[in-house]
Amino acid sequence: MIAITGASGQLGQATLKHLLTKTEPGNIVAIVRDAQKLESFSGTGIHIRVADYNDMASLKIALTGVEKLLQISTSSIGEQAAREEWNVVTAARLQGVKHIIYTSSVKPQENHHFLSARQSLKTENDIIASGMTYTFFRNSLYLETIPQFIGSGLYDGNIQFPAGDGVVSFVSRIDIAEALSIVMTEKSHENKAYEITGAAAFSFQDIATILANEKKLPATFTDVEEAAMKEQLAELQMSTAEIDWFMTLAGSVRANEFSHVDHTLEEILQRKPTGLIDFIQSI
Ligand SMILES: NC(=O)c1ccc[n+]([C@@H]2O[C@H](COP(=O)([O-])OP(=O)(O)OC[C@H]3O[C@@H](n4cnc5c(N)ncnc54)[C@H](OP(=O)(O)O)[C@@H]3O)[C@@H](O)[C@H]2O)c1
Repeated sequence: MIAITGASGQLGQATLKHLLTKTEPGNIVAIVRDAQKLESFSGTGIHIRVADYNDMASLKIALTGVEKLLQISTSSIGEQAAREEWNVVTAARLQGVKHIIYTSSVKPQENHHFLSARQSLKTENDIIASGMTYTFFRNSLYLETIPQFIGSGLYDGNIQFPAGDGVVSFVSRIDIAEALSIVMTEKSHENKAYEITGAAAFSFQDIATILANEKKLPATFTDVEEAAMKEQLAELQMSTAEIDWFMTLAGSVRANEFSHVDHTLEEILQRKPTGLIDFIQSI
């Protein structure tokens, strides 16, 4: 059987939809911590099992009989993320899972600015050390996160983000989901690390220019000071840990750590991936 953790999330649900077109529903196990979130899949014939990344016993039960696992990276941060990802890898190894497909971060490095990219590298290394076959989907930033970065800039054209002239090879989460469903149901992806990116990289100034062209907004980009950004985030009731995590992401964009462009996604999909202009037109 093929299982997906984090199946209730946006990437998980999109992957499940594609997977249902490629394999028998009885072959699919969706692992979630709240079964109600997959109510829309209840009539499809897939198996829905409940487990929490923090609960090893529940993970082991949920992974019974699973040969191939899509491990969707956790949305937690820091020590908790480390513990949760370790639990999933360990439970998979103990239950005899043969192949893990893991959603990592583009070009992860030990000295990466972005905290979650450093965690992704650690989990990749744990998976390799476990002896299981692996496929790493090293995803660049989702196009769908742009509204979170630019906030009201989407409507008033005034983008404030401390990214300097750093560029990002934004990639569509929906395209990633389709590619994951292909890799999960095909052979030839064993022990590969794929850099999953859009076909070009764009700065936040580029986003402003595209907004101006496509949405006829008086778009401007301000490379806002870090302290001012932190104040804005605190006003949104984010915790200090979340603000610090977000600032590591901004620092990473500024340092061009999400700039790598790769054509693997196009090769897997056998079509052009969704681009930034397509995305901006669609919102
Ligand atoms: N590349 C990017 O731009 C980008 C952006 C955002 C996130 N990410 C990463 O990619 C992952 C998938 O993205 P997404 O958009 O699908 O995120 P998402 O919608 O937030 O989904 C996260 C999934 O992880 C599950 N999860 C979190 N903590 C868990 C726990 N303790 N036990 C079991 N399940 C847990 C969530 O379950 P619930 O539904 O119960 O909460 C949800 O199913 C994220 O988790 C994050 O690591 C990447």
